[in-house]
Amino acid sequence: MRRCAVTEHVGATAYETYLAEAAARRERAGLSRRLTPRSPQPAAIDLSGNDYLGLARHPEVVAAAAEAARRWGAGATSSRLVTGSLTLHARLEEALAGLMGQPRALVFSTGYHANLAAVTALADRNTVVVSDAHIHASLVDAARLSRARVAIVPHNDVSAIETALWSRPEARALVLTESVYSVLGDASPLPAIVDVAQRHDALVLVDEAHGLGTRGTDGAGLVREHGLTGHRHVLVTATLSKSLGSQGGAVLGSEAVVDHLINAARPFIYDTGLAPAAAAAADAAIRVMLEEPERVIRVRALARRMATALEAGVPDAAVFSVPLPTADAAVAAAATTMAAGVRVGCFRPPSVPDGVSRLRMTASAGLSDTEVEAAIAVVSKTLASTADDAARAT
Ligand SMILES: Cc1ncc(COP(=O)(O)O)c(C=O)c1O
Repeated sequence: MRRCAVTEHVGATAYETYLAEAAARRERAGLSRRLTPRSPQPAAIDLSGNDYLGLARHPEVVAAAAEAARRWGAGATSSRLVTGSLTLHARLEEALAGLMGQPRALVFSTGYHANLAAVTALADRNTVVVSDAHIHASLVDAARLSRARVAIVPHNDVSAIETALWSRPEARALVLTESVYSVLGDASPLPAIVDVAQRHDALVLVDEAHGLGTRGTDGAGLVREHGLTGHRHVLVTATLSKSLGSQGGAVLGSEAVVDHLINAARPFIYDTGLAPAAAAAADAAIRVMLEEPERVIRVRALARRMATALEAGVPDAAVFSVPLPTADAAVAAAATTMAAGVRVGCFRPPSVPDGVSRLRMTASAGLSDTEVEAAIAVVSKTLASTADDAARAT
């Protein structure tokens, strides 16, 4: 038997050098990220999560997850196309399709996978993907992976979308938009985009990650709010991990689209099915959302109250953000609010496409009025002192 000669490497390996240089670059730019695990009973008022309706800890949602885990086991055990397709998935797909007014739904293990699946199965070298400049990273990655030509258009710019569509040489076009943008918190001009797409025979993928639970009657989303359900030029994706308080994602559209995804979407075919507990929790969350529509109204009202008090404009759903002068200022401001008992999101490049660092804040129907007032006081004091520091530095 031939033996491989193993030689001791002298000095740093190529990867050690690469990692050390990348870490030093991040540190210099103030862009290092560290994990700060939280305890199950967080000490801080949370304005950073996406549990918009306060359902992640709802007793019925948690009980459904626990019961499903006991009955079905902890995992789905294989891909949906092998033995991983459960009646729990079918029930959840029916509930989602009913809620969002779509003919069919297909669930995935994450919202990220749902976006990857939809775009990679529907776009190829004979497709142009027209993507909003602020589109979520999962759709950016999906577009790259599809090998389609990607035309990036300015945020919510309908005429730029139209130009990209009419000037295309490709047979097909897929327009990517978020019903409510995940960091900026503004809504997509959906009716105008769909109108343009219809005129140029394109398909609009609407990511309802931040619209489900926060827009439309009973939280059915922005597509339903605009009466665009079942539209031939509209395809919807959603996540189960925000308003529904669980984990997972979904694509919603026609029979033909769902059938195509089952047969062609690699993130569906080569991924273990959604965990039973997550599927049952999302299904229970939909039931609670429909039984308690006041949660949808409350989250919108709280977002408006906080954003107005913090002079951050009028949010279109549950998210809003405040731009800060530098990444370091954003990190420092988030640390200050945290020390005062309020957790806010801190978004810096590369998580923000325009390079502007921001504090991102979210409302949740689960917050009490006292918590909201306390959070407003802490964040506004922090923002005022950040502005003073910036003024002194100039
Ligand atoms: C707009 C948008 N789409 C998709 C996702 C991915 O969803 P998930 O966290 O379920 O993978 C997110 C999550 O951050 C998001 O904000």
